[in-house]
Amino acid sequence: MARRVSSFICQNCGTAYNRWQGKCESCGDWNTLVEEGAASPASGPGRKPGKGRLFALEPLTGETHEAPRFPSGVAELDRVTGGGFVRGSVLLMAGDPGIGKSTLLIQAAAALARAGQRVVYISGEEAVAQVRLRAERLGLAGAAVELAAETSVEDIIATLGEGKTPRLVVIDSIQTMWTDTVESAPGTVTQVRGSAQALIRFAKRSGAAVMLVGHVTKDGQIAGPRVVEHMVDAVLSFEGEGSHQFRILRAVKNRFGPTDEIGVFEMTGLGLREVSNPSELFPSERDLGSPGTAVFAGIEGTRPVLVEIQALVAPTSLGTPRRAVVGWDQSRLSMVLAVLEAHCGVKLGGHDVYLNVAGGLRINEPAADLAAAAALVSSLANASLPADAVYFGEVSLSGAIRPVAQSTARLKEAAKLGFTRAIVPEASRGEAGSDAGIKLTDIGSLATLVADIAARGSRPARVKQA
Ligand code: TYD
Ligand code: MG
Repeated sequence: MARRVSSFICQNCGTAYNRWQGKCESCGDWNTLVEEGAASPASGPGRKPGKGRLFALEPLTGETHEAPRFPSGVAELDRVTGGGFVRGSVLLMAGDPGIGKSTLLIQAAAALARAGQRVVYISGEEAVAQVRLRAERLGLAGAAVELAAETSVEDIIATLGEGKTPRLVVIDSIQTMWTDTVESAPGTVTQVRGSAQALIRFAKRSGAAVMLVGHVTKDGQIAGPRVVEHMVDAVLSFEGEGSHQFRILRAVKNRFGPTDEIGVFEMTGLGLREVSNPSELFPSERDLGSPGTAVFAGIEGTRPVLVEIQALVAPTSLGTPRRAVVGWDQSRLSMVLAVLEAHCGVKLGGHDVYLNVAGGLRINEPAADLAAAAALVSSLANASLPADAVYFGEVSLSGAIRPVAQSTARLKEAAKLGFTRAIVPEASRGEAGSDAGIKLTDIGSLATLVADIAARGSRPARVKQA
């Protein structure tokens, strides 16, 4: 008889160790190792070791099957998945507890069911009555979604195998599922992985799309969805500030579509509302005309989005000044600050710097450099920027402003929302032409921008350069 092997597995990153230790060497987390009985070869899903089954090999050229998709009925969700769910694919929706994953998925399930598709919603966290209650509150009670509160993967797959194959199966959440092919407790890495594997096999075999819900938790108690990320076809991340009503759905990985599109939702008393034009939403609460705010004309995926960037630069009372940033990259902020110091004579060593992207959006584009720099200098000099102007452009380490892609789309969106001026890189003028009815001010270097803003301010922004 084979010796029962057990190992200690980090519940955060999944690294296995032979003996217990306090700290995981791989991810650096403390107290995350839990003893788990490894699945012994005989209890695994495979057959007895022996001769393999023969299968046919296929030529590279041949009949191609376009991945057949079906739209979910929630346009913002379809935008992120790349046009809908692909048959037989497995998606993971990850997000903080309480962000709205169950709400979004019950809405998508109801929309699909209303379109005449078979949809099964398995809740491992809530009782059927709770899911029903939520659906009623959202006005979805009439939709023919099939519900169950189950956690045994074997039972779920056996039940789903009966009757017509469902189009979509929602598993809410993967952390509550358990399979008897592995011995560990539910919620551990081995269980989460084993359950996900079984559900993925079911999806590939049956052609049903499976949506797994995964909670992201900071503590090591429950295995994060991280351990299944590489097994699924797409990972959607549902984000947002807890206190903010806006939610952003983002594809972190997508085997069947783009990863740069975002879906924007607003959490209301009646569930998630789709926001099809995010530009109207982000600057709507804007505080234009006050020092420290600049509007950035950005691109998210294929859509232009106008975003307000807010900065606060204030004298510090600490030895090491604070640099805090929400919604943007910390290292890009450091870079912009360094360029301001080195090439523009803006000394910030004695100032705390706070930068915030309004509306809970997260910006990844380098094109936001210019808007961020404008907001920073505007706050430092106590000079408000023109309320009808948008900014975009990449700041290079030499202090030059570099052109960015899709200027025309950015300018059109700004014009549509009533902006009349744009501060842009020099090279953008040629590309954008004179269309869009917007007055372009092109600048070649960050120093020019700083001088412009400082001239209007009530506080000195620069020290004399030697
Ligand atoms: P939920 O979908 O249960 O989150 P998750 O499944 O990601 O844990 O959403 C929970 C939050 O959403 C909860 O704080 C209440 C809020 N909410 C609304 O504001 N309006 C609604 O119509 C619904 C259903 C939820
Ligand atoms: Mg939930």
